[in-house]
Amino acid sequence: MTATIAPKEKHHASHPVVDESPLLAAVIAEFPSAGAVLTAAKTIRQAGWTDWDVHSPFPIHGIDDVMGIRPTRLPWITLGAGAMGITVALLMQWWMNGVDYPFWISGKPFFGLPAAAPVAFELMILFAALSTIAGMLLLNGLPRFSNPLFSSEGFRRATSDRFFICISARDPMFDREVALKAFSDCHATAIDECWAPPASERKFPKALSLALMVLFTLALIPPVLIAQKRSTTTTEPRLHAISDMDFQPKFKPQRTSTLFADGRAMRPQVSGTVARGDLRADSRLFKGLEPGPKVHRTLALLQTAPATPPVARLVSAEGGPRDVAERLVALADPPPADPLDSQPWVTSFPVPVTSKTMKRGQERYNIYCATCHGLAGDGDGLVTRRALELEQGTWIKPTTFHSDNLRAQPVGRLFHSITNGVRKMPSYADLVSVEDRWAIILYVKALQQARHADAKDIPSDLIPQLRDLPKE
Ligand code: HEC
Repeated sequence: MTATIAPKEKHHASHPVVDESPLLAAVIAEFPSAGAVLTAAKTIRQAGWTDWDVHSPFPIHGIDDVMGIRPTRLPWITLGAGAMGITVALLMQWWMNGVDYPFWISGKPFFGLPAAAPVAFELMILFAALSTIAGMLLLNGLPRFSNPLFSSEGFRRATSDRFFICISARDPMFDREVALKAFSDCHATAIDECWAPPASERKFPKALSLALMVLFTLALIPPVLIAQKRSTTTTEPRLHAISDMDFQPKFKPQRTSTLFADGRAMRPQVSGTVARGDLRADSRLFKGLEPGPKVHRTLALLQTAPATPPVARLVSAEGGPRDVAERLVALADPPPADPLDSQPWVTSFPVPVTSKTMKRGQERYNIYCATCHGLAGDGDGLVTRRALELEQGTWIKPTTFHSDNLRAQPVGRLFHSITNGVRKMPSYADLVSVEDRWAIILYVKALQQARHADAKDIPSDLIPQLRDLPKE
């Protein structure tokens, strides 16, 4: 059955004002089955139509090939946006960590690809996902409030049980009669015309634009109120839905304050006071010093000691030739005695020396010290090797534990070095507990002893095993 509906009256040329007449937007044909619409689509394509489409309640296998639909360009948009996400993330992190606020962390480069990977990955996905959605809408010409196809009553069945082909009036070879003929040749069960409303009716509805204007005006009120509140003063407390501690008077870390002469909001501990739970009366355990009057002076001495004695400075300074006289004057100055040399360091362990402590010390040493000082204490840990490889020139080689000086150091002084740091080495007091520090020192002492061990230091029951070891 072929039913053709005549064009509506309004369309006739008797209306000279083009704006007032509805426009023929498309002709559509209805088909009873997927097979029928597939066959018809083949014919339509062969006839040379280019601006046409198929509508069906469900996806029809093979319809893309029959219609000659080219693959979508959407993946390229996704790819481009993903690449942009990676680039933005890398540039952002390079700028933040390498240029704007460089992170100086033990020999690590300011910007490293592995560290930047997670953010780059996230931004890649974010950019790609958002532009895939935006690109899909754009390529499909959406959002669209109305479509001339909806003017056909019969077309509604496209979502339940009928199949449609429409030829758009924008097709370059479009001619109403030819299109209708093409459809009846394909044995369409019904043929209809879709009309776009006249331009005058296509205007934005008055009521809607009024509603939008009202909404827009209302939306301006909150920002205006906020701006007003921000620029005026009041004695009333702020509006705050949940009264948590957001607005308490306080200083955040690393801020300035005009209250103190040095301008720091973060205050150092007041000298001579002890924080709750911080009374560390056992000087041997907590300071590595024998109790006595000198103990009280240690801190002051440490704070006045120059970081590097002049001679060390001269020797280590690099650069052009320096004034000989200046060198001689500097050399003539005897290096100031290191105040650390004359402290009453403890020479025995204030913790029990057991194999358990030794094991703990080895474990902690391998975690906290070996990275720089090396597993055997030669100052050749992985971080050191990497830093030397990078040749940035800023790396100070960690001290070997096997020098005469360090072998002779009392354990109390080693404790002091870990607790307070030494020259370029930072303090490890925050990371390693007092007991663990002593355990580490026990292990360091074992490392030192092992390096200078003699044949007679080997327990006699182990000697037979050593004999069996293959010779190098
Ligand atoms: C980040 C690398 C690094 C780590 C980790 C590290 N050190 Fe050091 N250490 C150094 C450097 C560098 C020096 C030499 C500092 C200088 O000469 O300015 C040094 C020096 C020392 C000294 C020599 C003190 C002296 O009197 O000359 C001792 C002892 C020492 N470290 C012990 C330790 C112990 C114990 C640990 C583990 C808790 C440790 N270090 C962890 C880098 C490190």
